[in-house]
Amino acid sequence: MSSHKLSFTKVAEISDVPVGKMLKVKINQNEMLIANIDGTFYAMDNKCSYDQEDLTKGALKGNILTCPKNKAEFDVTTGKNVKGPKMMLFRVKTDDLKSYELKIDGNDILVHQASSWGM
Ligand code: FES
Repeated sequence: MSSHKLSFTKVAEISDVPVGKMLKVKINQNEMLIANIDGTFYAMDNKCSYDQEDLTKGALKGNILTCPKNKAEFDVTTGKNVKGPKMMLFRVKTDDLKSYELKIDGNDILVHQASSWGM
C-alpha cells in the first residue's frame, strides 16, 4: 500500500469545474483554486501573493489568471507570476504562488497538499 496515495484529498468533482472556470476550495486552513484548462485540471494557492485578493474573482484566459485587484497575472498551470501588479504606470514584482499536484479518480478531483511545482 502506498502512503503517497493517502495524502491526496478530495476537493471537488469534475462537474464542479467546467472548462475555462475556477473553483475555490479549502483543505484545512489552506485556500486554493482548481482551474479547468481545456479539460485538464490544475490547483494552486487562491490568495494573490501581492495583497491576498481572492483570485477566483479574477479573469481566466487560457492558462493566465488576472488578479481583479491590481492585475497581477499568474500561470495557473505552474503558479508562476508572469506579470507583476500594476502600480500607477508601472508594474512591481510579486511572488510566484504554490501549485499542487492533482489527480482525477473517477469523478473526483484530488489534491496533494504537500507538493509544489514551479517554485
Ligand atoms: S492583490 Fe493581486 S494584484 Fe493586488
